[in-house]
Amino acid sequence: MNIFITGGAGFIGSNFIKYILKNHADYHVYNLDALTYAGNLDSLWDVESNPHYRFIKTDIQDAGALDEILAPGSDAVVNFAAESHVDRSILDPQAFTHTNVLGTHVLLEAARRAGVKKFVQVSTDEVYGTLGSTGYFTEESPLLPNSPYSASKAGADCIVRAYHETYSMDVNITRCSNNYGPYQFPEKLIPLMVINALHDKPLPVYGDGQNIRDWLHVEDHCQAIDLVLHNGRPGEVYNVGGHNERTNLQIVQSILSELGKPESLIQFVEDRLGHDRRYAIDATKIRNELGWTPRYTFEDGLRETIRWYVDHRDWWENVQSGEYRKYYEQQYGSRLGARS
Ligand code: NAD
Ligand code: TYD
Repeated sequence: MNIFITGGAGFIGSNFIKYILKNHADYHVYNLDALTYAGNLDSLWDVESNPHYRFIKTDIQDAGALDEILAPGSDAVVNFAAESHVDRSILDPQAFTHTNVLGTHVLLEAARRAGVKKFVQVSTDEVYGTLGSTGYFTEESPLLPNSPYSASKAGADCIVRAYHETYSMDVNITRCSNNYGPYQFPEKLIPLMVINALHDKPLPVYGDGQNIRDWLHVEDHCQAIDLVLHNGRPGEVYNVGGHNERTNLQIVQSILSELGKPESLIQFVEDRLGHDRRYAIDATKIRNELGWTPRYTFEDGLRETIRWYVDHRDWWENVQSGEYRKYYEQQYGSRLGARS
């Protein structure tokens, strides 16, 4: 099988490439990534010389480049490429429409032209909006996105769906809850808090810290995408989540406890605009249809992930480039004041 993985230099994409090369050693994997601030080839050091792996620097908005790369009749495209951080989408929303909506459309159209046999769109539970204190998102929940990020992902999902309905393209959409694990960019909650704690810097918790996310280890997500890629019914959406609901404050407290750092590092800061209160996934469909079950318990996965960041200082020091420092200052400078 020839698989074209877009956004493969990011957090989930790089983990997925390794998952595929490990579990399907005869497949050929092409990593198409524009290498934005979030793309990092260091995350792929261990597969770089694998003859079944190839990196091609590509922007998914570049139709001409995609036409050259996607060989006619290729087996699959798995689209991870995206602007993925909600806080950045509040600071610069249009970049999200360009890559997530337009980029997905350009890629989908190129895949259609090339007669690609399967197109998997890696989406998010955030397209469903926010939940109250009870209930779960199912595949039938309405799309009610609240951030420019989730709105752009919902827009992409609608275009992918339309290509199935209109052109009978074999597409699938996966909607997963929050991921954690190795190689996640340090702007996201878990790595950001681990790294700040290691530096004895304040841990900026938005609002009252009671927002709930449903956490899933990245490897469990990769397994789900692999199952959808091979066995997903054409046109279907699959939710992915492991029933690990935690408040942000609980996450931060667990990190501090694991690292032996004091809770006095926690600082409650101004809330995120439009901050969704709770996400929780009903993953019955993928479990029943495709036999997916997560392998990690949250406690083991979180402990292992914290250790990974402790042991891979070089990786995160490298990605904390000038661009990241500028973003951190813009996002947290006035929130944390002199203590940052
Ligand atoms: P990430 O930000 O770590 O990586 C995104 C990758 O896409 C980077 O390598 C970047 O260089 C690349 N990219 C960005 N714009 C591009 C473009 N125009 N052309 C080609 N490449 C481009 O993101 P992630 O956390 O790995 O998320 C991957 C996908 O999974 C996203 O589509 C995201 O919406 C979805 N998702 C993420 C989570 C999560 O918790 N992280 C949960 C559910 C779904
Ligand atoms: P994040 O990792 O950005 O993922 P998402 O917004 O896609 O769920 O944030 C997870 C939760 O953590 C979210 O409720 C916002 C919160 N959060 C903080 O409280 N402080 C922070 O510095 C960050 C980055 C996130």
